[in-house]
Amino acid sequence: MNKYGVKCAPYQFQHAVNLAFHKSESGVYDSIHRDMWASLPQQFALLISDYLASGEELGNDLVIVDVGCGTGLASELLLKTKIGDRVSEIDLLDTSPEMLEKASERASTWKVKTTTIHGGVRSIAERRRRYDLIITCSVLHHIPDLIDFLQDIRHLQAPRGIFMHLQDPNGDYLGDDLLQERTRELKDYERPLIPKRLRRLAPRNVIGRIRRKLSNREDEDYISRVNKQLIQSGLTREPMIAPDIWAVTDIHVHDGEGISIKTLSGLLGDYRMISVRSYSFFGKMASELPTAFKEREQLLIDARALNGLEIAGLWKLMNDR
Ligand SMILES: C[S@@+](CC[C@H](N)C(=O)[O-])C[C@H]1O[C@@H](n2cnc3c(N)ncnc32)[C@H](O)[C@@H]1O
Repeated sequence: MNKYGVKCAPYQFQHAVNLAFHKSESGVYDSIHRDMWASLPQQFALLISDYLASGEELGNDLVIVDVGCGTGLASELLLKTKIGDRVSEIDLLDTSPEMLEKASERASTWKVKTTTIHGGVRSIAERRRRYDLIITCSVLHHIPDLIDFLQDIRHLQAPRGIFMHLQDPNGDYLGDDLLQERTRELKDYERPLIPKRLRRLAPRNVIGRIRRKLSNREDEDYISRVNKQLIQSGLTREPMIAPDIWAVTDIHVHDGEGISIKTLSGLLGDYRMISVRSYSFFGKMASELPTAFKEREQLLIDARALNGLEIAGLWKLMNDR
């Protein structure tokens, strides 16, 4: 904050950067997160199968809230799982109006009733609605105060309801030797053998350079749009560099802590952990891996290894209140 001449409180700064960032990201979100669209359906299917195999009951006419819904990815993938046809209503909640607009467009193709709500979990608590299933996908690592956030989640949960989270950095294993070894192995595999000078001349690489230039421009635009908004609003005096912006928005990625299942277990006191699953065992989503690595990723997923880069979980509230 000192570096950029910020004078407001840290909480206000985080909120403003978060809003500007997601406003700017909303237009390119689906294209820059193609890997999530391609790789996450399996993780949704696995968590739901684990729930169905657990012997716990699940009713019909499920009412769901997708917290931090973004462009609607989590709800869309959930609707495609085995419980999709038991869903009757989805509330799409986000602090970014631009993300909500995208989610609303997507939701118009779904066969369930949807309502978009602008705000955070605290703001919908006043509606006194309780949800059978609460989902957060790629959201927990954006939340500065997880204790408060999870308390709000608990208040929104219907008795015996489900809380699901996916796509967060795996806090309990970020320093894991095997994860680091596998990540290095992939990097080495992808390191080209031909010297850089010669590679630059290959037609494929010339075309690649042009493409990258164009998409970098898209990236630059998206970061510069964030800066433009922050400077115009008087929050910052000069443009923030991209890693500094990400350090504010993806707060638990850049603090090196990630999201820890051990910590969540403590914070989700009256929930029972039904399933915890990890993925991205080579540091990248399955869809981004070369074939041989894809097969090994699948073996680790099948073996329910827990030391991947990303973590997901499904919890059931064991309380009737
Ligand atoms: C990385 S995106 C994830 C979007 C979507 N869930 C997905 O998986 O693609 C994070 C989303 O959370 C929203 N968000 C961040 N903090 C929030 C909060 N406290 N309450 C509700 N939404 C929040 C952002 O505006 C953004 O749309």
